[in-house]
Amino acid sequence: MPAPSGIDWPVPAAPFEISLPPPADELDQNEEWVNVIHKGGSRQIRLHDYEQLYSIPGLYDAVVYDLLQCKSPQRVVRALADVHRDHSGDPSRLRVLDLGAGNGIVGELLRRQGVAGVLGTDILPGAAAAARRDRPEVYDDYVVADLTAPGQDAARRFLAFAPDALVTVAALGYGDIPPEAFAYAFNLLPDGGWLALCIKDRFLEEDERTGFGDLIGQMIADGTVDLALQQRYVHRRSTAGEKLFYVALVGQKRRSVQLH
Ligand SMILES: C[S@@+](CC[C@H](N)C(=O)[O-])C[C@H]1O[C@@H](n2cnc3c(N)ncnc32)[C@H](O)[C@@H]1O
Repeated sequence: MPAPSGIDWPVPAAPFEISLPPPADELDQNEEWVNVIHKGGSRQIRLHDYEQLYSIPGLYDAVVYDLLQCKSPQRVVRALADVHRDHSGDPSRLRVLDLGAGNGIVGELLRRQGVAGVLGTDILPGAAAAARRDRPEVYDDYVVADLTAPGQDAARRFLAFAPDALVTVAALGYGDIPPEAFAYAFNLLPDGGWLALCIKDRFLEEDERTGFGDLIGQMIADGTVDLALQQRYVHRRSTAGEKLFYVALVGQKRRSVQLH
């Protein structure tokens, strides 16, 4: 497997082989792909084709965490725990909604911080199935729903869980979670609840087409969120070996957000 420059990773002991596109191919993140040889067949899988990545046990973690060295779950969970300790003591009473939970690494790290409960939610049934398969002990509940139109069963389960923190890692923008779904999840928190997220740095610019630059900028500017931490960091390497920068934000909710 050819290594992008500067990347050193453990070779996964897994029943598949992964190879990368030629480093000359400068692809945006939602265009990136890897070639996977599995069960005698070879296919290209886009990194944003989560159903495909989750369908092969171990593949998502091998590509995203081992090969491309994604550090966002650790960065965001640690930032939430540190800020929460500074302001409110240890996180052992936190009940965390993990939005865009995927196969559960964020939930696993939250559990290691000793939080009281974690509810995962994702739009893909394949994500819930992968979380059950890969990390069966992590989530108190895992709701498969589109939060732009969650439906009664999902709404009931969110309210029953009563989260007081929202975490969303590597799932905003790029056609993933839209501002409306993020706002719905944020509004489930009580005032005083905690928000921890990461997002690609350029998505925080004003007038950015994902809508998150305007929304998050407005939430901070008008005091909807009291910002405690903002940090730009390397989210992961691209398939061409370049550093991809994200921004981690942690803050405390002061009131619900209205979308215009
Ligand atoms: C890059 S993965 C991140 C998964 C996990 N947070 C992690 O850090 O490993 C993005 C996840 O967001 C989910 N997602 C995309 N659009 C979504 C939406 N509208 N609502 C909920 N989840 C969504 C995808 O299914 C995928 O599991």
